[in-house]
Amino acid sequence: MGQEEAKGHHSQRNDQTNQLARIFNDSYERVMHGPGRSSGEFYVAFYDLLTATSDEAASKFKNTDMAAQVRMLQSSVTVLLNFFVTSCQDEYLGQLAERHGKRGVDISPELYEVWLECLIETVRQFDSKFNDDVATAWRVVFSKGIEFMTSRYEGSLEK
Ligand code: HEM
Repeated sequence: MGQEEAKGHHSQRNDQTNQLARIFNDSYERVMHGPGRSSGEFYVAFYDLLTATSDEAASKFKNTDMAAQVRMLQSSVTVLLNFFVTSCQDEYLGQLAERHGKRGVDISPELYEVWLECLIETVRQFDSKFNDDVATAWRVVFSKGIEFMTSRYEGSLEK
């Protein structure tokens, strides 16, 4: 027994992960390249909502070049999706966590909750096929990265 059972569980989990990744990818495609949309529009709307929702978030971005920020967030989505699917934490993710930690721009774990809620709300507005499964897919993909980043808030233990 044992082994077969373990294998069964394992591939079941992979199937679920892949399905969520697929739902996420399809939704991401729609929010970025939906009819009449330019690809930066989604992120601009997200940051507008985030900074309107939270004064603390707004104050963190007060000296930020938002066009550059949008480009960087765009590329980090690929990294987070990869982390979600493979659980492999690459160097970039460690650097990103450090940048957001206490010794960096100092983003407290609570801010990530606001951040994620604003992200889901923006997806709801931009994705014509938005539903509970789409919301769940975005939530789980980003939660995994957020979990990692907030676990490093106080500073990496290896240092
Ligand atoms: C999973 C969640 C997040 C991701 C993927 C993400 C991604 C990024 C990326 C890619 C950068 C640019 C890093 C660089 O300079 O190379 C960045 C910077 C930054 N992020 Fe985040 N971020 C996340 C959460 C947050 C949250 C919750 C806040 C606060 C509300 C925040 C505030 C900032 C600030 C203030 C900077 C620096 C901007 C500057 O250079 O002026 N981030 N983030």
